Order: sequence, then C-alpha cells, then structure tokens
Amino acid sequence: MNYSKKTINDVEVKGKKVLLRCDFNVPQDKATGAITDDKRIRAALPTIQQLLKSGAAVIACSHLGKPKGEVKPNLSLKIVADRLSELLGMDVIFAADTIGPDAQAKAAALQPGQLLLLENLRFDKREEKNDPEFAKALADLAGADGVYVSDAFGTVHRAHASTAGVAAYLPAVSGLLIQKELEIMGKALDDPKRPFVAVLGGAKVSDKIAVINNLLEKANTIIIGGGMAYTFLKAQGHTIGKSLLEADRLDYANDMLVKAAEKGVTLLLPVDHLCASDFSADANAIPADGDIPEGLMGMDIGPRTVEIFSAAVKDAGTVVWNGPMGVFEFDKFAGGTRAVAKALAESGAVTIVGGGDSAAAVEQLGYAAKMTHISTGGGASLEFLEGKVLPGVACLLDK
Ligand code: 3PG
Repeated sequence: MNYSKKTINDVEVKGKKVLLRCDFNVPQDKATGAITDDKRIRAALPTIQQLLKSGAAVIACSHLGKPKGEVKPNLSLKIVADRLSELLGMDVIFAADTIGPDAQAKAAALQPGQLLLLENLRFDKREEKNDPEFAKALADLAGADGVYVSDAFGTVHRAHASTAGVAAYLPAVSGLLIQKELEIMGKALDDPKRPFVAVLGGAKVSDKIAVINNLLEKANTIIIGGGMAYTFLKAQGHTIGKSLLEADRLDYANDMLVKAAEKGVTLLLPVDHLCASDFSADANAIPADGDIPEGLMGMDIGPRTVEIFSAAVKDAGTVVWNGPMGVFEFDKFAGGTRAVAKALAESGAVTIVGGGDSAAAVEQLGYAAKMTHISTGGGASLEFLEGKVLPGVACLLDK
C-alpha cells in the first residue's frame, strides 16, 4: 500500500472550512460516563491546533462506541467537546446533530480559528453504511472550497461515510497523527532497521493469522506468546494439558513452523509456563517446564521464556509488539507481559506498540515514554500489520 499521502502541510486551509475526522472513541466509566483515558483526544490536538492557527474553521467529527444508528444519550460526544475545550483552552462549539439543522447552521456561521464538534456520527445508520448522500451532506458542511482532513487512525480500517466516502466530494489529506502512524509503522514494515523482531500475543491464532502471514515475509524473528502459543506448541508435539487449543488451526500452525524454517525466520515459542488448574485470578500459579501436565492450563510465559524473549528484543533493530503474553488482567499471570514491556523499554531498538492490550500494558507500567511509538489504533494497527489496504488511507490524495 502507498503510505505517502498529502498532509495538511500540502494544502492551503486559510479562510477555508475543514471537515476533520478524528477518532474520539474514548473509553468511558460505565457508571458515570466520564472519560477514563483521553489519549485519543490528546493525540488529535496537534492537527487541530495547526489547522486553527493556519486560519481554518474546523468542523470536527467522530464516532463514540457502537450506538448502531440510534441516538444514545450516554454516547453523546458532548463530553469530548468539554474535554477538548479544557485541553485547548478555548470554546468548542457543539452541534446536537451530525448533518441536521443544528450542524448546518453552526457550520455555516463558523469563523476561521473556531472549532465545531458534531454529534456522534454513528447516531445515523448511514455513517457505517458509507451512504453517499450522508457523506455528501457531511462534505457540504465544509462548503464548496472545503477540505477533508482525516486524522482518525484508529478508524482507517473502516470504510464508512466519514472515513472514506466523504473523500469523493472534498480534497482529502491526512492530519499529523495519521502521517506519523503511517511513517513509523510503514517504515517498520517496508524498510526496518534489522534485526526486525515481531512480538505477537493474544488469545487466538485465528485473530493473528493474517499478521503472521505478512510478517513471515518481513521479520527476522517472530516471537509468539499468549494463548495462541499453545496451538503452536501442540503442533510441535508438546502436551499442553487443558490450555487454550484451536484444534482447527493445528495444520495452519504446522505450515507456519515449516514456512518460517524455509524462509530463515526464527520463530520463538515459550519453553516454560505459569499454569493454573482453573481460569481464575485467585488460582495458584504453578510452574511447568516444557510440557504442560494434564489438568493444568498455561496462563503466562515462564522465567526461562522471559529471558529468551527479552534477549531477542534487546538485540533487535526494530520491534513491533501486538498482544499480551499471558492473562495479564490477572495480576499473578501478568509477569510475562510486564517483562516484555520492560524489555522493549530497555532496548535500543525502534519500538512500536500496536494498540489495544499491549498499549494499555505499556501505559499502566509507566513505559510509554520509552517507546518510539504507541499506535492509537487497535483493529486499525492490526490490519496495518496484516498489510491490508486501509480504506481511510487509500482514499487520501497521494503525494
Ligand atoms: C477503535 O476503537 O478501535 C476504533 O475507534 C474503531 O472502532 P470500531 O471498532 O467500533 O469501528
């Protein structure tokens, strides 16, 4: 895929209205609705600030959660408007609809240097359907000489009206966040400083098949931890007790082991484990070396594995990490994930953390500042690593 896209530095926005797609899909406290992590809002600030400073009138839009085409007051973006206003130290105008009369009136009256945020795009079911009329109506808010800027990296894997469809009606360029994500992750995939080590974890092999396939063509070493490792270990002939097994993926795991050997890619799997007799936070952590005995399930990588994985990361030129090494939501079984986060933090390599659980782990442990890049995309960064064409990137103008 071509990652070299025009950015806000390549277009004149002075005196124009900019429709800016952000990913303000932030986690909220279940009881109070309060924003529990504003990282995605902060990540959008450089683009917003540059556009406002350049004399644009900015109409920002986003989705929040999965309201499925219904107006759900608990998923209103008003809380994001309030947080943006605090972070920017300015008034943020909020429209109570997306393409309706309030949005139209407020967009029409918007002046250079002012910021308007529209209500949750997914309150209208036409957004996720990439409905052309809805996309056109969004574009019309920016007027005849408007510009579309996408900075919603977390949503570039979705072909929705606001992430892809709208580019048919306005010149489409990327914001600074997407530019940074594409530059750093694109370089890691296409021209990495070697050795290039990929650390893959998470529960299921099936979620990571496309990533493994793509990285087998690019990485020098692939480290596999987490629940998905047990299917690989079983394919190698180990006993895995009652660990997570995807029996229908055994052939695939076998093929990958063969393919890695053929391509000269080192594939590292756990050599020891922390196990439990049942899947619970209070379960006793029982060490197992090599095979996992009957009646036990692997819950985390063991200390010898930590050493092997950490050594590979230490000597790397580039490390991409996606997915935890064990059941890190249970404290007793979070050690492997913590150790890998520490190894990345201490490595001199270019370190890239794919979003989701690994990003959360790195942040919780206070290693965020030590990483070269923590992606703001969960599903999007995974699809990026799969080498897929991302609709929200493909629709932007090439450089
Ligand atoms: C995310 O949180 O990964 C993005 O905002 C995309 O959200 P979605 O999975 O609801 O499309």
